[in-house]
Amino acid sequence: MKKRFAFLLVMVLILTGCVSSFASTAEADETEAAADAADTLVIYFSRTGEQYTVGVIEKGNTAIVAEMIAEETGADLFEVLPVDDHYPMTYDALTDVAKQEQTDNARPAYSGELPDLGSYSTIFIGAPVWWGDWPMIMYTVFENNDFAGKTLVPFSTHEGSGLSGFDKKLQSACPDAEVLEGLAVRGNDAQNDQDAVRESVASWLAEIEVL
Ligand SMILES: Cc1cc2nc3c(=O)[nH]c(=O)nc-3n(C[C@H](O)[C@H](O)[C@H](O)COP(=O)(O)O)c2cc1C
Repeated sequence: MKKRFAFLLVMVLILTGCVSSFASTAEADETEAAADAADTLVIYFSRTGEQYTVGVIEKGNTAIVAEMIAEETGADLFEVLPVDDHYPMTYDALTDVAKQEQTDNARPAYSGELPDLGSYSTIFIGAPVWWGDWPMIMYTVFENNDFAGKTLVPFSTHEGSGLSGFDKKLQSACPDAEVLEGLAVRGNDAQNDQDAVRESVASWLAEIEVL
């Protein structure tokens, strides 16, 4: 009888140990997942097809820079895609459509929803410069979402116009956000000189102290 009791006691002790070590492993996993969850988001708009100076491209210039930022910061990515993709794949036709949208002060719809912004404190926002401004679809994004209290970091790709006032225009569209210094990258460099672009992305991130 005593032997049986001793055996049971040993079994109970072993099982309790197993359960508690399983529980602490699960707790550790949870803590790690929380630490891994990104608090940074990259929102970008970018086109493939025929683009200025680079010919027909399979990955958009801005998409390349957006991915570099996400790799450096561990950010999540959200691509702004038009609901009905009415943007032509040839450069000249695209410039006409974009000009018309600007003239009309249009707010083209994008598909889907941004992820819940509650968990993000820093949000990078990038697009190609179109006629010296953000593509109008980006104003739809700025106006349909609440960026109050967020740190917003603009970036552009372009072929000569630089940042084109993206920072000031973003600040006007989102007055209750803090807008940091932006980065402008030549579209041609994004396609053809990626090591140099990666370096400028990294030093810009260090300068604005996001890393
Ligand atoms: C409709 C349109 C308008 C553009 N306007 C400008 C401009 O005003 N200034 C400039 O430097 N580049 C301009 N570009 C060139 C793009 O900004 C550049 O090619 C950009 O890298 C394209 O990025 P994406 O591949 O991500 O769309 C324009 C291109 C298009 C298609």
